[in-house]
Amino acid sequence: MSSRPENIDTSTHTAVDVVLDTAYQNINAAQWVELFTFARKSKLEGFIADLFAGKHINLSEDRPALHSALRNLSKSPVMLDGKDVMPAVTEVWRRIEALCNKWVGVTDVIHIGIGGSDFGPRLAIEALAHVPGIESRGMRMHFLANIDTAELARILDRAQPNSTRVVIVSKSFTTLETTMNAKAVLAWLKANDCTKSQITNSLFAVTANVPAAREFGVEEDNIYPFWDWVGGRYSVWSAVGLPIALQYGFKTFEEFLSGAHAMDLHFKNAPLEQNLPVIMALALLHQQETLGIKAYAAIPYADALDWFPKWLQQLDMESNGKSIDRDGKPVKHSSPVVFGSAGSNAQHSYFQLLHQGSDIVPIDFIAVSKPMSDRPEAVAHHRILLSNCLAQAQALAHGKAADNPNDVYPGNRPSNLLLLPELNAFYLGALLALYENRAASLGALWNINSFDQPGVEYGKVLAKPIEKALLTGSPIEANDSIDAVTAARINLLNS
Ligand code: F6P
Repeated sequence: MSSRPENIDTSTHTAVDVVLDTAYQNINAAQWVELFTFARKSKLEGFIADLFAGKHINLSEDRPALHSALRNLSKSPVMLDGKDVMPAVTEVWRRIEALCNKWVGVTDVIHIGIGGSDFGPRLAIEALAHVPGIESRGMRMHFLANIDTAELARILDRAQPNSTRVVIVSKSFTTLETTMNAKAVLAWLKANDCTKSQITNSLFAVTANVPAAREFGVEEDNIYPFWDWVGGRYSVWSAVGLPIALQYGFKTFEEFLSGAHAMDLHFKNAPLEQNLPVIMALALLHQQETLGIKAYAAIPYADALDWFPKWLQQLDMESNGKSIDRDGKPVKHSSPVVFGSAGSNAQHSYFQLLHQGSDIVPIDFIAVSKPMSDRPEAVAHHRILLSNCLAQAQALAHGKAADNPNDVYPGNRPSNLLLLPELNAFYLGALLALYENRAASLGALWNINSFDQPGVEYGKVLAKPIEKALLTGSPIEANDSIDAVTAARINLLNS
């Protein structure tokens, strides 16, 4: 076995008790120096300061990206255009805590939202479900995102209408999937003999568009606001994370915020050379430059984090999947394709390609020191889980020679190891904030605006005339908004 890497002593960094080990990145000391020099030349430190200072770094939408204020448990002032946002943030915390104490006899919560209004809370509810020491109120938490009625049907089959609460979560309150699903759930309550006042009392909204929620019929007292300076994919820290507080208690929600806040303080204050989000961003940049990587994988060796890669896909690809930089010029690099799922299951799926495929895909292995349940088998199973995690990284790094070409592992396949001391609300918060800050760092290094998502809109616009054509059910010809291929497909569906 070849001996590598030479920089093993300098490869581990710790922040908020989360350890990052870059030993298998195959980046030597001189290359790290170059990378940090590049980061300084790219004015990354100034960008980080501007991010936390509420500067309008989201240039296209002329607003800041101040999601860090939502987890600023120190309550120190966060100024936005001369006004402290913390009083409004803490008022929402107070209302969330009060709501937690009020909800008794609730069997089901239907959380209706999509994208950033769905992934974060869904991930947190799953991740914390079996954590020793976290008490669950045992409500059935249903996440309704897809416009496909299969999801709606599955949820409505299980929920008990008389003891259900409905939370509509949408930053814009105009997302069609969400408003249509909300109307369907309200119709179901009505069809199940819930009275008008029962329905009104069961209906809640979390939004940055309070007038639209009001217009929809949500009572003022049941509307939990957040603000346009919070991007949808960065919103789990706002009242979007309500299910976490409702199911696991306000204290758990606070711990979640507190882990993220601790990671923010690290990102804001640590020198670049010790800064976990920055180191991870630079390692990825290095692999783009040297290996031309086009994809990377995040593999949590924690079944409870199976939703993490889905959350991360939106974070990274919606933030940085862009080909134009902040000055409107073509970029050299942008977000690689992100994928992943829980290990060791992932090993039995696409790891063949990761070991022997013709493309190199860097991996973030995410492991947790302590077992993640208190089952009697937990210690023995956890040991095997961790051995698998470590073995995969070693095999990828070193490869294996063999006489039969079929058995050769090329090796030199980079990976990080991220080690959390345990999986709880605090470290979950720290993990998500680590990746949010890494995405922001990458955006700064690529000179990309990580806080808008113009590319998601066009498809939604085109869907409207197509829906109309499907509604008529009669054959159509290609026109200004529907091309010949799509017209033929509509006709196929209508036939
Ligand atoms: O699909 C794009 C998007 O705008 C995401 O950025 C966002 O998280 C999601 O839709 C949902 O938006 P909203 O919270 O406004 O309903």
